[in-house]
Amino acid sequence: MEILAAESLGVRSMAVEVECSGVRILIDPGAALGPRRYGLPPDRLELEQLSRARSLIRERLRQAEMVVITHYHFDHYLPDWAEDLRGKRVFLKDPVRNINRNQARRAAEFLERLIRAGVQWEVAEGRRIKLPGGEILFSGPFFHGPDSRFGCVISVAVRVGGRVFVHTSDVSGPVRPEVVHFLLEQRPDLLLVDGPSTYLGPRFGLEALEAARENLLRIIRDLGPEVLILDHHLLRDLSWRRWAGPLFEAAEARGVRLLSGAEFSGKPETLLEAERLKRFRDNS
Ligand SMILES: [Fe+2]
Repeated sequence: MEILAAESLGVRSMAVEVECSGVRILIDPGAALGPRRYGLPPDRLELEQLSRARSLIRERLRQAEMVVITHYHFDHYLPDWAEDLRGKRVFLKDPVRNINRNQARRAAEFLERLIRAGVQWEVAEGRRIKLPGGEILFSGPFFHGPDSRFGCVISVAVRVGGRVFVHTSDVSGPVRPEVVHFLLEQRPDLLLVDGPSTYLGPRFGLEALEAARENLLRIIRDLGPEVLILDHHLLRDLSWRRWAGPLFEAAEARGVRLLSGAEFSGKPETLLEAERLKRFRDNS
């Protein structure tokens, strides 16, 4: 499994490439920047990083045999790349059911582009697809965050040779118990989780943040994956390690490697969005 882009690598993304017996699977081929953070737009450093991230994702997208889009936010897919999906097996979050108005509108526009480009697609929810030497399985719809306001997302489990990788897109924690149940059922060895939006504080909900941390503790203690990668929303916060203090303790006690996406990838952690204000102050 390779993380192509993520907050810990300087952009908003959860783009991942997984290989299952020679079949290349690309999950969430997209990357974006926070349009405004600390009241500031992205700066040159972020724009350059975005262009690097998008080039890499697009290159891998063109080589992939299978593509998964977990929901219709632009850090997870890019409408302009619709033609690159031609000839591939494409699994989409259900564009009609369990979706909010904003995502439904984007999904409809995207489907029009896919039709024009001659791309075939399948609804992913609840499907289990056999692959040579393994399988890929999609969860049912999970809330994007604590409730249905931002619509739903799907999680993806890839089983290869007795090992399991799970990608939980935008479950913000996970803050919801049904996601924890899905993980306990799938029993991943390698787990990439979208940590909660601590940077939003009360706007995310302080109780919801607490629930997310409790759920992560449960995942560490009851599931004990070999590697737990926290990234995406959580890595928009410079103090994420302090918030995750109890998780690091529990992980150490249980022998779980708790890492950011950058650490997992052996690359330096560059929280460009979270550091935007500091760069602005240093440069002005
Ligand atoms: Fe996202």
